[in-house]
Amino acid sequence: MKSVYIHIPFCHDICSYCDFCKMKYKKDWADEYLESLKYEIKNKYNGEKVRTLYIGGGTPSVLDIDELNKLFEIINLFDLSELEEFTIECNIESLTNEKLILFKKNGINRLSVGVQTFNDKYIKLLNRNHTKEEVFEKIEMAKMIGFNNINVDLMYALPNETIEDLEYDVDNILRLNVEHISCYSLMIEPNTKLFIDKIKPIDEDLDYDMYRYIEKRLNNREYNHYEISNYSKIGYESKHNLVYWNNNYYYGFGLSASGYLEGYRYDNTKNLNKYNAHNYVDNIVKVSEDDRLKYELILGFRKIHGINKKEFSDKFGKNIYEVFNIKELLDNKMLNEDEDYIFISDEWIYKSNEILINFV
Ligand SMILES: C[S@@+](CC[C@H](N)C(=O)[O-])C[C@H]1O[C@@H](n2cnc3c(N)ncnc32)[C@H](O)[C@@H]1O
Ligand code: SF4
Repeated sequence: MKSVYIHIPFCHDICSYCDFCKMKYKKDWADEYLESLKYEIKNKYNGEKVRTLYIGGGTPSVLDIDELNKLFEIINLFDLSELEEFTIECNIESLTNEKLILFKKNGINRLSVGVQTFNDKYIKLLNRNHTKEEVFEKIEMAKMIGFNNINVDLMYALPNETIEDLEYDVDNILRLNVEHISCYSLMIEPNTKLFIDKIKPIDEDLDYDMYRYIEKRLNNREYNHYEISNYSKIGYESKHNLVYWNNNYYYGFGLSASGYLEGYRYDNTKNLNKYNAHNYVDNIVKVSEDDRLKYELILGFRKIHGINKKEFSDKFGKNIYEVFNIKELLDNKMLNEDEDYIFISDEWIYKSNEILINFV
């Protein structure tokens, strides 16, 4: 059984913070791209059953109905007989009744919707195009069509944002009553409009306070904080993203997609011309045993419950204490453990990247 990620790099507008591999939607480009995608899948896919499928981007929901039909035709190249989770990334303005019905008809059972904020001031700054009312209308429409596993993305630590501003966004996201919420602290990345405009990130302490504020509000409403940036109602954790955090194999198809298969990690090209000329792989590396162990840690500690000690020894044939000198981290309480798991202590989880980089 495998997992599959498919990248659709088109968006109607480009957000001021985004450094994902994306470009403005053009019908000709999208049509040609889908042909190239079909070629790549036909060439690379080995016929395994697919357990989780994730169409991300960019914004896959900007494709028009004909293109979406073509995309589903391509997806039917996979063995979907035991598919458990099928997600598509969407944004509010491109979600229509017709597209949602088409998604449902084609087996999509999870929507991941980019909202980021309900606050007009920030919607404008981020160069997004929805209104708060539209968010409520579209999520309601999706529920009425039968989607009962919906994720919404929220961003915080926006320029000059206050805890009161965040409170407004959290109040609204809770009112949506969706199954899953992803909360990302804004990163101001080079080559984005915010960076070029010299917008400064907010104070680190405030960023941390916001992280804790979100955690408290969501926990109180029975969302389980299961990964640094992710919360879900019980049973609605993202099965696909858990494949990444569990350091398991997956295919990546499409422009800029990454994959991890049979001991090799690869990244596809970010150059559309090369991709369309079927030169899709940009680089491929064999993952050494040492690197495999490092990935296991870096990815595994993103999960709040951490790394399962028995699963670790079953996977690697040795116990975790032998492999890593974690005693020091346990002694100074950066790591904690119970009978089954080793995990980053609550006080350190927000800084877990720093710990892990020092550690590995
Ligand atoms: C590929 S986008 C999601 C789908 C869709 N394109 C959209 O934006 O509505 C993935 C998510 O990453 C988050 N994200 C993107 N760039 C970010 C940044 N620079 N800092 C923090 N979060 C970011 C946003 O929450 C965004 O919804
Ligand atoms: S955040 Fe989403 S909609 Fe905005 S540019 Fe990036 S991929 Fe496109």
